[in-house]
Amino acid sequence: MPCHQISIDGYAACGKSTLARELADELNFIYIDSGAMYRGVTLYFLREGVSFDTEPPDALVQSIDIRFEYVPGAADKLYLNGEDVSTKLRTSQVNENVSKVAALPNVRRRLVALQQDYGHTHNVVMDGRDIGTVVFPGAVLKIFLTANLETRVRRRMNDIKSSNQYLNVDEIRTNLLTRDHIDSTRADSPLKQSEDSVVIDNTNLTRKEQLVMVRSLAALRI
Ligand code: C5P
Repeated sequence: MPCHQISIDGYAACGKSTLARELADELNFIYIDSGAMYRGVTLYFLREGVSFDTEPPDALVQSIDIRFEYVPGAADKLYLNGEDVSTKLRTSQVNENVSKVAALPNVRRRLVALQQDYGHTHNVVMDGRDIGTVVFPGAVLKIFLTANLETRVRRRMNDIKSSNQYLNVDEIRTNLLTRDHIDSTRADSPLKQSEDSVVIDNTNLTRKEQLVMVRSLAALRI
């Protein structure tokens, strides 16, 4: 039986991963956070002092071992060369550099291939920026999630508070806007809404309401 893929793309801090996880649990699919994979490569470059103003050597990029593990009801794990770096992916330093790393074509080629492997061997809900356009153009359901900027800033502020980091509202807003700009204007796989995606603005929706909406869309297609 061929596997099903559901894509959830959109701007930073729209609640994509919350929705994707809850949908995956309802459908008994696995969830893959493709952003965590780009964050893992960024962490590697920062730690190792690899310059990413231009593409690093292909052999180096190919040699990075990135694995995402989803355990329903528990925290997601991201392994970088075998080390669990899950709690090190959302620092200011990673936030500030991840979109530059994610614009590098050889990094994208490497991670897209890994993401496609997950989706060809499991039923997946995957969230990111190019999942419906590039990674799984044949996805059975494509969601493009949006929310207004101040709602996104408030949600990110709450995430950050619960992880005991400190960042002020202006820094968060600037980071979201900068990442959105780089992500949607890069040459390789820019964030854009595909024609066959369903757009959901969740500014005024509860988690439950958005889940019910997407669950019923999925039921029509699977
Ligand atoms: O989803 P998250 O905000 O964690 O993603 C971090 C960054 O990774 C994004 O701002 C974007 O630069 C990059 N990304 C991407 N393509 C994806 C997922 C994330 O370019 N499919």
